[in-house]
Amino acid sequence: RKIALAYSGGLDTSVILKWLQDVYQAEVVTFTADIGQGEELDHVRPKAQQLGVKEIFIDDLREEFVRDFVFPMFRANAIYEGEYLLGTSIARPLIAKRLVEIARATGCDAIAHGATGKGNDQVRFELGAYALWPQAKVIAPWREWDLNSREKLLAYAAQHNIPIAKKKDGGSPYSMDANALHISYEGGGLEDPWWCPPDDIWRLTVNPEDAPNQPEYITVEFERGDAVAVNGRRMTPYGVLDELNRLGGKHGIGRLDIVENRYVGIKSRGCYETPGGTILLKAHRAIESLCLDREQAHLKDEIMPRYAKLIYNGYWFSPERRALQALIDDTQVKVNGEVRLKLYKGNVYNAGRRSKDSLFDATLSTFEDDRGAYNQKDAEGFIRLNGLRLRTGAKRDQR
Ligand code: ARG
Ligand code: SIN
Repeated sequence: RKIALAYSGGLDTSVILKWLQDVYQAEVVTFTADIGQGEELDHVRPKAQQLGVKEIFIDDLREEFVRDFVFPMFRANAIYEGEYLLGTSIARPLIAKRLVEIARATGCDAIAHGATGKGNDQVRFELGAYALWPQAKVIAPWREWDLNSREKLLAYAAQHNIPIAKKKDGGSPYSMDANALHISYEGGGLEDPWWCPPDDIWRLTVNPEDAPNQPEYITVEFERGDAVAVNGRRMTPYGVLDELNRLGGKHGIGRLDIVENRYVGIKSRGCYETPGGTILLKAHRAIESLCLDREQAHLKDEIMPRYAKLIYNGYWFSPERRALQALIDDTQVKVNGEVRLKLYKGNVYNAGRRSKDSLFDATLSTFEDDRGAYNQKDAEGFIRLNGLRLRTGAKRDQR
């Protein structure tokens, strides 16, 4: 057997690595992605080597992640259950895609991952893999073994001489997932939805009350619905998100504490920080407000929850997600221009927008003399006909 493992270098996936070698008598190929989690990956190769791995893949996927996954999703203004910006959900299909590529290139007959049997991530990894590799065999150790607690994992690690990296901060008591779009925190004390986590849980943002007392004004420029520059400086997709993260983090923007519905049917409490993404969403809606036709915009808003649910549930590589994406992308052709935003103590405010493709027409909307651009008399018939059925109904109810 030869198995390609999505390997973070942390305790869980190191134990999985060893377990696959022992239980499946397998040769393991590891794949680790830099998707902007902001962690040194230098320790990954020596650690995998120490565990006897010969083929070790460590890929910088930051630009691909933002360009081909985060940005397409933001064209849709996607939000799950009214709050969650899908930071973890959108990274999983990319990891699945690259894992499958590596598995096939190295002659593996299976892939493995470290997601538990209770969560969304297993579904996202596996649906992604099946969509791209119909013959894929998947091994999910968390669904098979009996190492179902932290204690048992540590004992297994000690017993098999698996090095446990001592983290500078002593490790986190939460289950975290980090990438260029967000950090998520689940588990630990958060399992009580009434419990309020201490301020030091947050890693990307300052407390809003500790943020600068002076607001900061920034500009974000868009081309075809994608952000291409911040404060007049053109940047790559990852560059844009990274800069917006820095600005949002400084002003305490993008913290969330929610209870969400997992695809498997479990309710889960999580805290999220998405500083750059929160700014980007506000900015994107602002530029769309100038450039989209009303019905185009409303149609997008109707399909958005459906699109968000597809991403949350792991259907990125599905025909229906692609079809919705084609519709969304078609609406973005004229979404060009610049947005000005004010960042202040945990909030992002609109402060201006302009576009060469704007549909905004001041001669129409003005409260001053419009010199005949709009005939107010037209509105009378417009309202009378639209009100016709309402009057018909009201007359019936009078009888
Ligand atoms: N609940 C979020 C989601 O389903 C975050 C999942 C975090 N995953 C993790 N392995 N810690 O998208
Ligand atoms: C996990 O269960 O592995 C993490 C949480 C999730 O996937 O929803």
